[in-house]
Amino acid sequence: MSPLLGKDGKLAITDEKLQLLNTLLSRQGEFVSGQEIAEKMGLSRPSVWKDIQYFKALNYRIEARSKVGYRLIGVPDILHPLQYFPFLNTRRYGRTCYYHRVIDSTNREARRLIERGVPDGTIVIAEYQSKGMGRWGRKWFSPFGKNIILSLILYPSLEATSASLLPFLTGVKLAQALEEETGVHPSMLWPNDVLFARRKIAGILVESAFRQSDLEHVIIGVGVNVNSSLVDFPGGLQERVTTLREILGRPTSRQKLLAVFLEKMENGVRAMEEGKASDTLEQWRFYADFLGDPVRILLGDSREVRGTARDVLPDGRLLLHTDSGDLPVDASEVISLSLK
Ligand code: BTN
Repeated sequence: MSPLLGKDGKLAITDEKLQLLNTLLSRQGEFVSGQEIAEKMGLSRPSVWKDIQYFKALNYRIEARSKVGYRLIGVPDILHPLQYFPFLNTRRYGRTCYYHRVIDSTNREARRLIERGVPDGTIVIAEYQSKGMGRWGRKWFSPFGKNIILSLILYPSLEATSASLLPFLTGVKLAQALEEETGVHPSMLWPNDVLFARRKIAGILVESAFRQSDLEHVIIGVGVNVNSSLVDFPGGLQERVTTLREILGRPTSRQKLLAVFLEKMENGVRAMEEGKASDTLEQWRFYADFLGDPVRILLGDSREVRGTARDVLPDGRLLLHTDSGDLPVDASEVISLSLK
């Protein structure tokens, strides 16, 4: 059995489904008889038919001709594990996946799954969220089926102090994956927006739960604008976001980008657990080209502070140089940060 899970938590992708898909893929465009598939896989023909319906529901284009067989005509561009699995080099991250075409929010679904008990490294993927959550209570919009919408569930052995660096680690790993896969060099805006040419290309929402000073679980929500175009976004967002497609003028493999990011995260979190990730902030600074620039910060109590972003402190706070001296700012107190 493959360890992939379906959205109801039951095993949805069995080895037989993978085998069936591989058979159709290896002879794409040709008819393969139901009899041949059934014999090869030791299944009844009705079970083959049922598996075919499973793929059709995922928008695989399969022609069924009576007395001839099945022919795969088209493979959808979906972030289903069937499609990113071939690129995945992790031990745990992404090996258990809850895939949804539409969901309220993958972070919310992750919370529900944690209640039910799912393994470390489980991911929730969606093609669309009806209530995508951004940081500071904002909404996250991502058009259907073009971007990456992901939540990664972790139970890391980290103390609260190192846990505060997880958002920075995520930003670094995301930036590295983007750079490696596309050549696009993004920049980081504190605390963890990923920008290109001052427009947002990815957002990170980390939700942690603690028991005393120990981390109980973490949900790392990541949204990346990959193959959408600006016109796919509502009017108010079009001036503030960008996408890989807009930058490169061509599509990027979401599946490969996801797999590379998960691999980097797995290695990064392990290094952090082993106390070997002391360079996380140094790596983050490499992408943080706003350091040294004037910024405006709106705080939760409606105060606005202006100053120069000097550095990020070892605990993740931003050190702001204001007219009245240096002011460390905690991300949890901030509603928004803008570059002047
Ligand atoms: C931000 O920049 O405000 C953070 C955006 C985070 C969006 C992602 S998309 C996947 C996950 N599910 C959510 O509801 N939000 C995060």
